Amino acid sequence: MTVAHSAALRPHASRPSMGDTPAQSVAADSLLVRACRLLPVSHTPVWLMRQAGRYMPEYRAIRARQTMLEAISDSAVAAEITLQPVTALGVDAAIIFSDILPPLIGMGLELDFVSGVGPKIANPIRTSKQVDLLATSPAEQTMRGTLDAIRLVRNALPPVTPVIGFAGAPFTLACYAIEGGSSQRYEIAKRFMYDEPAAWHRLMRRLVTVLADYLLAQARSGADVLQVFDSWAGALGPHDYARYVMPHNTALFKTVAAAGVPVINFGTGTGAYLADVAACGGQVLGIDWRTPLDDARARFGGDRAIMGNLDPVALLGPWRELRGQIDDVLCRAGTAPGHIFNLGHGILPPTPVENVRRLVDYVHEQTLRA
Ligand code: CP3
Repeated sequence: MTVAHSAALRPHASRPSMGDTPAQSVAADSLLVRACRLLPVSHTPVWLMRQAGRYMPEYRAIRARQTMLEAISDSAVAAEITLQPVTALGVDAAIIFSDILPPLIGMGLELDFVSGVGPKIANPIRTSKQVDLLATSPAEQTMRGTLDAIRLVRNALPPVTPVIGFAGAPFTLACYAIEGGSSQRYEIAKRFMYDEPAAWHRLMRRLVTVLADYLLAQARSGADVLQVFDSWAGALGPHDYARYVMPHNTALFKTVAAAGVPVINFGTGTGAYLADVAACGGQVLGIDWRTPLDDARARFGGDRAIMGNLDPVALLGPWRELRGQIDDVLCRAGTAPGHIFNLGHGILPPTPVENVRRLVDYVHEQTLRA
């Protein structure tokens, strides 16, 4: 299915004024929201992490004119990028174009996306005093562009297509804030955690304050589903995850539950302690490609929906291999309600668009229920 009119950003559905009450999602009956709530669906919903990005020529054309941070803060451009994969691929949800790192700017960190390198922070946190200087200003002030982009996208899409808002999890953002960029082993961040546990917990609490407020604001702006990305949680062993992360993730999911929309709890490399990850909260557990879905299910039970988990590299292979891997994911997911098809991590830049389109159509065909 293709939403041909979506790129035009035409108003589609108006939202009631929200105040402090939970969001009344206009997409409450969409396939994704129904699957999140373990309700039967006519076919398995599909969306892909990083579905808007460099593998798409339309995305590269926009990014040739604007930097990453400019594109994120310009709500009309962010809305346009968000709608590109919905129009081109027929995915069952739009995920708002932004990144997990911009909320750090509002806290006082000097973030930039350096072309060919990735995110860089000029003033990384290295001392307990720096933690205490971090701001916790409301998202309505610091993340206006993204909240406005959510309103634009929500108004442009029909109620069958939900809008996903997201944030990084406190651990993943703390790693970036301390390391100052991407890292292989997170030595600086983990040393800070071990050397200064009190400052670590203060940093995590501040991040939870900022991220919970941001996620709630996204739901008020029209996000129908929220996702928390804990992309680097797998850097920790189970004991460290339990001591240094779990209390904070639990607080975050508890606060965000007030949004009244489903929340997806996604981490990578956390297969060894999935039950603890699940215990933190969220209606849906996002699984990376290293843990088969049936194995994951056996460890956290059937009371939550599950999302995943095709290896993103499979999209670079020939169709016979890709199809075999999709079949395996669908077979392990089973036929009970509550599966959302996705990759096990973000889509890679060399991915052929044609393979992504074929994947979306194939999952729809294979899971069609009478
Ligand atoms: O899923 C989506 O389509 C929504 C947009 C989105 C982006 N980043 C856009 C982006 C989302 C949800 C993210 C999440 C994100 N960002 C994560 C968590 C998920 C994951 O993949 O682990 C992380 C760790 C980041 C941090 C980040 N952003 C890195 C390390 C990089 C550089 C490496 C890379 O992949 O380019 C980015 C840049 C980034 N974020 C791009 C996009 C489309 C590429 C920017 C470009 O055009 O050059």
